[in-house]
Amino acid sequence: MQETQHDKLQREGFSSSLGVIAATLGSAVGLGNIWKFPYVTGQNGGAAFILIYLIATLLISMPVMLSELMIGRKTNANAVGALRKLAPQEPWFLLGVSGVLSAFLIMAFYTDVAGWVFSYIFKAAVGTIHSTSPEQTYAVFQGLVSGVGEPLFWQIFVLVVTGTIIMSGVAKGIERVTKILMPVLFVLLFIVDIRSLMLPGASEGLKFLFDPDFSKISFSVVLAALGLAFFKLSVGMGTMTTYGSYIGKEEDLPRIALKVMLSDTLVSIMAGIAIFPAVFAFGFKPNDGPSLLFITIPMVFSSMPFGRPFMVLFFILVAVAATGAMLSLLEVPVAYLVEEHKLTRRVATLGTISAVALVGSTATLSTSLLSDVMFFGKNMFDFYDFLTSNILLPLGGIFFALFVGWRWGYQRMFTEFSNDRHLKNEGFAKIYFFLVKYVAPIAIMLVLLAGLGFLKL
Ligand code: PHE
Repeated sequence: MQETQHDKLQREGFSSSLGVIAATLGSAVGLGNIWKFPYVTGQNGGAAFILIYLIATLLISMPVMLSELMIGRKTNANAVGALRKLAPQEPWFLLGVSGVLSAFLIMAFYTDVAGWVFSYIFKAAVGTIHSTSPEQTYAVFQGLVSGVGEPLFWQIFVLVVTGTIIMSGVAKGIERVTKILMPVLFVLLFIVDIRSLMLPGASEGLKFLFDPDFSKISFSVVLAALGLAFFKLSVGMGTMTTYGSYIGKEEDLPRIALKVMLSDTLVSIMAGIAIFPAVFAFGFKPNDGPSLLFITIPMVFSSMPFGRPFMVLFFILVAVAATGAMLSLLEVPVAYLVEEHKLTRRVATLGTISAVALVGSTATLSTSLLSDVMFFGKNMFDFYDFLTSNILLPLGGIFFALFVGWRWGYQRMFTEFSNDRHLKNEGFAKIYFFLVKYVAPIAIMLVLLAGLGFLKL
């Protein structure tokens, strides 16, 4: 049989078990941990929010992740093709279509933030953000996001970098790099954690992170936690379906989902410990929003020995983590266009990144030229973010869960779950199945309706 370039890429990427973990974790770990988790936690009141986020991750988003991995591996196809194969002539493929759309909308704002990170590597290197004055780091960030040319330049830069990697198919290269850099990111976060914990007033930040105050909880807060749980594990939109299709038949999918979930959560918590003590120590407010990472972290580094080179390294690692996630986002539409519309990988990639650049520029300019353009009371950036995390991903999650629970059924699911082997103990499979058949769809539906204000509970 003739091997297409795409087939080769698939094999190249996920050659070993470690490679599978690196790629899957590479998709999960990203700006979601280091930028989004802290700022959304800050906006939603801290520890109680984190607790709900953890529950949502364990009971809902991880089971959906496993469902997607199984669907992808079973069919060896992109998000749309996978559902077409499993349920031909039925509308389930629309779930894949919604995934392609979500990937696109997430990229629109994700590449904007990734652009800020790349620009911060240089700002750290030349010393612009080497300051322990809150006014100074805040001013630098404001200067960046209220500009036009600078953030657009970085966004396009990010798209070109990601596109080039996807096009030239150096998935293996990226894996090799992430395998080394992920541990380095851990170590560096650990150092920042220690430094942050030693700041005067650090305990205030820890209290915010770990001492829950349930009076702050409302349904919109629960919806935000659920949305973050989906965004974090890259689920509800076909990323894990697509990556599942590159995973070998002998890999233990439940174990992969568990490992990725645990490591990903650890990185988020570590990012929280890096940021919140500093927030309080330097007199910022935890609900400062998307700017949180960019105004606090420079101050933590600036207040420690060798801060400047460490800060450069830190932003490089965040850029690498963001790139791993963006590769998986870009892969969703690209795999779809290549397999379902027979485009070459090159054309599919170029087309997608050009379209993302166009739509993404409206997110990037939402803090400058387009700051008056509002949708449902949100600027374009916040709108794309809200629409994907809090609506499209949870909706996708409902349907992935329903698909496995009601359309696929226990037996077919179990074959994929167990790699067609006899398991001594089917307990986990049964729990998982119960979660996707009943718990996830009902819980997500209720949270969605209540969180959006359609249902008064
Ligand atoms: N999980 C990624 C992060 O936390 C973001 C992402 C979402 C990637 C959805 C792919 C799909 O940064």
